[in-house]
Amino acid sequence: MQLNEIKKIAIIGAGTMGSGIAQVSALAGYETILFDIEPRMLPRAMASIEANLAEAVKRNKLSANAQQAALSRIYTTNFFADLQADVFIEAIIENLDIKLEAFQQIAKNNAPNCILATNTSSIPITRLAAHLPNPERIVGMHFFNPAHLMRLVEVIAAPSTSPQVVETIRQLTEKMGKVPVTANDAPGFIVNRVARHYYVEALQLLEEGVADHQTIDALLESCGFKMGAFKLMDLIGVDVNFSVTKSMFDSFHYAPRFRPSRIQQQKVEAGHHGRKTGKGFYEY
Ligand SMILES: NC(=O)c1ccc[n+]([C@@H]2O[C@H](COP(=O)([O-])OP(=O)(O)OC[C@H]3O[C@@H](n4cnc5c(N)ncnc54)[C@H](O)[C@@H]3O)[C@@H](O)[C@H]2O)c1
Repeated sequence: MQLNEIKKIAIIGAGTMGSGIAQVSALAGYETILFDIEPRMLPRAMASIEANLAEAVKRNKLSANAQQAALSRIYTTNFFADLQADVFIEAIIENLDIKLEAFQQIAKNNAPNCILATNTSSIPITRLAAHLPNPERIVGMHFFNPAHLMRLVEVIAAPSTSPQVVETIRQLTEKMGKVPVTANDAPGFIVNRVARHYYVEALQLLEEGVADHQTIDALLESCGFKMGAFKLMDLIGVDVNFSVTKSMFDSFHYAPRFRPSRIQQQKVEAGHHGRKTGKGFYEY
């Protein structure tokens, strides 16, 4: 599929990432379907998109007309039958089986050349593609949080992904006002592979009682990082960050440098998932 053939984009999952991706898709002029199995997530996602667009208008970065036009392009649904599109961008929880099930259902109801892009942070694109029909149209499209502001997008090719699909997604990323970086499939791709140690080491310091999380964050920020590791985990979602570490630990054959933290596991079990639940390492 070429860029000019794309008319409709469906975003699967309306959580932290899906809502931001829907916003950039609508702003780029695409009819955008925002889907979630949890109906309560849809008004929440729309409220966040509306607030982001209003803020952009207030800062003179967007006209009121463009704001209204973008909002009118977004259609929300929790019915799988509504999912008919040219490109699907999946942003559901970081679980291979759940992502596969969603893609398999989408593949059944759509043309064999529609593009199936995943925003996974760590699940190998190769592993997804191996279980889906027409694996040449499966590609990674990894946005960063917050998706409506962060410009980098990693475009990930599995061995089975067609060069044309990679090129179309690269062009689509640019049309969304982002900066694409293409890479071959590897656990965690580029950014998460490097950044994993930012979280893992900070958690290890906490586990060993070397310092509390506020002190570790203050030190990291004082030496130039924009956000301390614990503030960043709260922004990402402690649950999402934990799933990504587990997935990378698995993909790197249990290399100790990727070992997930028991402290993080306990936060997840307690439902302290960060900003989205009002409490993580900090309270909101
Ligand atoms: N949070 C981040 O900073 C970040 C950054 C880049 C990539 N990612 C990746 O993006 C994906 C989504 O992460 P998130 O932080 O937005 O998670 P989230 O928990 O905020 O949202 C996930 C959403 O998926 C929905 N969902 C679950 N199963 C579904 C299904 N079968 N069909 C449709 N919707 C379903 C949930 O109801 C929820 O609304 C993950 O793969 C994650 O690794 C996250």
